[in-house]
Amino acid sequence: MKKAMIHPLSDVQSTQIGKNTRIWQFCVVLPNAIIGENCNICSHCFIENDVRIGNNVTIKSGVQIWDKIIIEDDVFIGPNVSFCNDKYPRSKVYPQEFLTTTIKKGASIGANATILPGVVIGEGAMIGAGAVVSKDVPPYTKMICKSQIILSDCNEQSCGGGGQI
Ligand SMILES: CC(C)(COP(=O)(O)OP(=O)(O)OC[C@H]1O[C@@H](n2cnc3c(N)ncnc32)[C@H](O)[C@@H]1OP(=O)(O)O)[C@@H](O)C(=O)NCCC(=O)NCCS
Repeated sequence: MKKAMIHPLSDVQSTQIGKNTRIWQFCVVLPNAIIGENCNICSHCFIENDVRIGNNVTIKSGVQIWDKIIIEDDVFIGPNVSFCNDKYPRSKVYPQEFLTTTIKKGASIGANATILPGVVIGEGAMIGAGAVVSKDVPPYTKMICKSQIILSDCNEQSCGGGGQI
């Protein structure tokens, strides 16, 4: 196995990065983060200090992994997934302890999903793109939030004019 590949245009301050892991352009990884072997961290990700990431994990672009987020082996995190660790955020006011969020082995999270703080996403679960996860997700379940509503045809009156139908 090769040693980790840290792209020169990233700012990786942790030395605890497993073999064969690749960290691409414009990622920032703070010094106490622990990242396992054979992971792929795509460009434009931020990984804070109190973070543990297992082996064979894929993190697509535009993801921030804040303190107290635990990601187990074989997890897939889609582009622009949003994690949180403070349930009632206020500027310059910090909780005594951040809530722990755990993504269990083999779970996948679709693009742009929002994961509220303190939940456990079960082993092998599949979270749909754009879902808002506010409660624990049982192992090996598929979860979506349905929201696409067709309001009406979009003609000149209802859509501000200019539309050709
Ligand atoms: C959740 C997911 C796995 C479901 O796939 P599936 O089981 O094949 O489901 P289907 O495509 O048959 O859709 C079933 C129903 O759920 C709806 N649906 C599917 N995914 C949805 C989602 N993410 N959000 C809201 N509704 C969704 C479909 O519109 C369909 O609705 P209907 O029954 O009213 O027609 C998939 O749609 C998904 O979101 N995958 C993540 C993709 C992604 O983000 N990849 C990132 C890397 S590129």
